[in-house]
Amino acid sequence: MTPIDGSQLDLADLAARSLDELGITDAAALEAVFTRLDAGLASEVGALQDSAGTADAIEALRVRWLGRKQGIIRSITDGWLKNAPGELKRIIGQRTNALRQMAEEQIAGVAKQLQLGAIAEENSQGRQMPLPQSDWAATQNSAAQQQLSYVPSPFLDITLPGTHRPAGVRHPLRQVINDMVEIFTSLGYSVEDGPEIESTYFNFEALNIPEHHPSRDDQDTFYITPETVLRTHTSPVQIRTMEKQSPPLRIIVPGRVYRRDAPDATHSPMFHQVEGLAVDTHITFADLKGTLDYFLKSFFGLSVQTRFRPSFFPFTEPSAEVDISCLFCAQAGCRVCKGSGWIELLGCGMVDPALFNFVQYDASQYSGFAFGMGVERLAMLKYGVQDIQQFYHGDIRFLHQFR
Ligand code: DAH
Repeated sequence: MTPIDGSQLDLADLAARSLDELGITDAAALEAVFTRLDAGLASEVGALQDSAGTADAIEALRVRWLGRKQGIIRSITDGWLKNAPGELKRIIGQRTNALRQMAEEQIAGVAKQLQLGAIAEENSQGRQMPLPQSDWAATQNSAAQQQLSYVPSPFLDITLPGTHRPAGVRHPLRQVINDMVEIFTSLGYSVEDGPEIESTYFNFEALNIPEHHPSRDDQDTFYITPETVLRTHTSPVQIRTMEKQSPPLRIIVPGRVYRRDAPDATHSPMFHQVEGLAVDTHITFADLKGTLDYFLKSFFGLSVQTRFRPSFFPFTEPSAEVDISCLFCAQAGCRVCKGSGWIELLGCGMVDPALFNFVQYDASQYSGFAFGMGVERLAMLKYGVQDIQQFYHGDIRFLHQFR
């Protein structure tokens, strides 16, 4: 049998022919004919919209596509679907469902438009027609009653299940910051912040970092102007706070910092730090050790041991770096601690009296300690995250693990 040239047929006629008659034997030919049906529906609905069709015209379109006896969809399910070979059945089923849904939605849409148009027309002539039921709420607002420029849903079915909006989770970095704030506020610290766009005076000068110090290099720092940078650490807030307040002082400063590092598994040009500063009479290195040991045990668990190693920072003297016992191998030596049993964590020290001179604190009366640590680093260790970039991708498969 020579197949009929379906492209010349009206769509209702086309749907009434068998696949055999139309010579449709494979998936590609099926796709083509459904594409034509989709487009046909869209253009017929479009034509009706443009011509502001009558109720009769809309009903005719509905019968043509969705009619129970001879509608296009019915012809397809009765004729094509029933007799198609197995592998084509699935395609016909899926495409027909989609087509039916589209026809139902679009035709209901035009009908609704017509109905609203009629109401607006009546109302503008001084007669008040009742609104469709679901618009009861709108009648409570007389402005809306007169304006009807919005398109409400066609009906309200209060038995439908509600929209499910899954609860989000706090970002792991926010959780870590919150944990840190909680521990330090319980020790009497308050939370301060400062600007991310910072002057070189606060970021470097007043922290005793001289003009030619390597950390001031524009290789490492984002300069905005020669006197303005994206702060490279949270330490400038030490100075800002001491300028505002007199001792005694106990603050922590969570916030974003920026460095010109290429992103990789352990670096990011933007990351977070928490700074700490305590100034009072009689503050000693023992206070520093006790505070950080208490913090790290509260944060990581009581079994964690701490170790202070001599180090150097321009703004503290003496300075130290703090390690914790490796959380992953009970100090047997592993990849994370590079076999040493210890993990390097943060910098700290006794406030260099040079800083007190910048803020006019009496260095003979007061002493203090300071510390600074990376939030991402703490979070990676606490949760076993291998790649710092995960914190910034916003992938909910990652984020949802921190419930
Ligand atoms: N600001 C230092 C950095 O970003 C960290 C630091 C070290 C802060 C020692 C301090 C400190 O307050 O005492 O690398």
